[in-house]
Amino acid sequence: MIKLDTTYAHCETMPDYAGKVAEIHEMLVKKTGKGNDFLGWYDWPTTYDKTEYDLVKKLAGEIRAKADVFIVCGIGGSYLGSRAAIEMVQGMFPNRDIEILFVGNTFSAPYIVQLLERIKDKSVVVNVISKSGTTTETAMAFRLLKQFLENKYGKDEAKSRIIATTDKARGTLKDFATKEGYATLSIPDDIGGRFSVLTSVGLLPIAVAGIDIDAIMQGALDASKTFNHPDLATNTAYQYAVCRRIMEEKGYAAEMFVSYETQLTMLAEWWKQLFGESEGKEEKGLLPASVNFSTDLHSMGQFIQDGGKCLFETLFLVEKPMLDMVFPSDADDLDHMNYLAGKSLDEVNKKACLGTLQAHHDTGNVPNLILTVTDTSAYTFGYIAQFFFIACAMSVYLLDVNPFNQPGVEVYKKNMFRLLGKI
Ligand code: PA5
Repeated sequence: MIKLDTTYAHCETMPDYAGKVAEIHEMLVKKTGKGNDFLGWYDWPTTYDKTEYDLVKKLAGEIRAKADVFIVCGIGGSYLGSRAAIEMVQGMFPNRDIEILFVGNTFSAPYIVQLLERIKDKSVVVNVISKSGTTTETAMAFRLLKQFLENKYGKDEAKSRIIATTDKARGTLKDFATKEGYATLSIPDDIGGRFSVLTSVGLLPIAVAGIDIDAIMQGALDASKTFNHPDLATNTAYQYAVCRRIMEEKGYAAEMFVSYETQLTMLAEWWKQLFGESEGKEEKGLLPASVNFSTDLHSMGQFIQDGGKCLFETLFLVEKPMLDMVFPSDADDLDHMNYLAGKSLDEVNKKACLGTLQAHHDTGNVPNLILTVTDTSAYTFGYIAQFFFIACAMSVYLLDVNPFNQPGVEVYKKNMFRLLGKI
């Protein structure tokens, strides 16, 4: 389901890590490493709560039947995964009746005001998602949405149009939801935001989009079985984790996630959060960056080719695109494009990819790791989500860092609260 090609990355020292990897694997399975109370995602594809899962499906069906617009109100791990999955599986112009919008992830006034304007004549359902229940961006947008719904539908009907996904037992949003009588879904205690896309956090929005969540969970289960062993020689997730560390040891400061499908742009954002927030601590870690080619070959391509040698690329390639078409011939050929006639768009994309790989690696001396998946299906999303969770945990444990906290994020919040006069 996922292949890793290290030919262009020169990770010859990989076998040296086999012992350390086996040790960390043991730590993961026995839950004895740093942050071990946040390892619930590891067995989640088998242990997930089936009753809650059925409720997600039921709610999704009801929402699809009544809403024109479904609003996901959350930030970081509370929205990136579902957005990544929806775009990956359905593309940028999906053929569905319900529109899915994301808010609660910014203080940007134009964004929020325009969104409220856009939904005013629509039938709206809101899913507010916050594990802590206190995230300011999310709470601020939610208050605006709640008042919007109450003004539009009255207090009672508004309540039936709000679903809160939050901690099972405690927190401001949990208390709020209980008092107001909202339908609630829960985020397991032992799964942090950026590891939560396979819980109700991600699954409700994904199911509302009409995506088969059974296929997602099957993909995750298959990945969790495939990568649940310590043998570095055959465990692709661990190989990827180790290659990242080898690159860092060689002096590279940044990992550039490269995709060739526009619908993978949000997947890259999700990947950046997963790796950035998990390993950027104690002045360690690779900077996770991303580009979408060939679009960004016309912006960042120059730097990657000829700029400072601070980065390596991780190509995330798709064997079979969601859609394709044949490029037509033209009798006049005024644009001189007939040399492509008869080729499919994907064939051209793949040649662009090969040409770029040769340019960046052979000429530009930029190492390239290559991850290849079969397709962009729901099953594949589930599979790669679990793959990246496992790879991320291994990679960060190899740095001797706790992958599951994010202490640095608090600094901006403290300053902002002081400036805003919060007591
Ligand atoms: O990965 C994480 O833990 C964070 O990115 C959170 O998902 C993000 O800060 C949102 O937090 P919350 O769900 O508590 O509002």
